[in-house]
Amino acid sequence: MSTGYAIRPMGEQDVTAVHKIEVECYTNPWTAESFRYEITQSPVSSFFVAEDAGRNILGYIGVWLIEDELHINNLAVKTGSRRQGIAAGLLEHILAYVAGRKVSIATLEVRSSNVAAISLYSRFGFRQAGLRRGYYTSPTDDAIIMTKEL
Ligand SMILES: CC(C)(COP(=O)(O)OP(=O)(O)OC[C@H]1O[C@@H](n2cnc3c(N)ncnc32)[C@H](O)[C@@H]1OP(=O)(O)O)[C@@H](O)C(=O)NCCC(=O)NCCS
Repeated sequence: MSTGYAIRPMGEQDVTAVHKIEVECYTNPWTAESFRYEITQSPVSSFFVAEDAGRNILGYIGVWLIEDELHINNLAVKTGSRRQGIAAGLLEHILAYVAGRKVSIATLEVRSSNVAAISLYSRFGFRQAGLRRGYYTSPTDDAIIMTKEL
């Protein structure tokens, strides 16, 4: 991990900053209320943020742990902070977080046009396990299902 940021669990105080990055990244963003629900009420959710020394939120990752499956729901880094290893650091953090628990597989869905994310996940050993045609809207796109055995 690079030295310019630290990773810690997401709290309610982070919802506004995380939601701002979400809106910047996605055409169908989660609402701020969804993030608040995930971090305060959902029994299966774990969310972490990467923040710099000035306490600015640079990126976040959100997962669900359901039985033996880790589902990666959200991973995003603000535009000005990309290609500095932050997403890789967040992914590493999650994989270390679930190590030792009875998790056997990690799964996620990614737009087939999302070269950056597919490249990142491939580097971590995720492989295509399926395709959902026309899964995404605005614009319409296929979802590639990627999995990694843990
Ligand atoms: C995908 C995303 C999270 C990557 O974040 P990041 O912090 O820039 O990624 P990292 O710096 O950790 O990159 C690690 C590796 O991923 C790959 N990668 C990252 N961005 C890439 C890009 N634009 N093109 C090709 N490969 C890329 C590279 O292998 C990179 O290693 P390198 O920089 O040594 O070549 C970021 O681009 C993003 O937030 N995109 C919008 C949201 C999104 O699409 N999230 C994923 C949804 S499934």
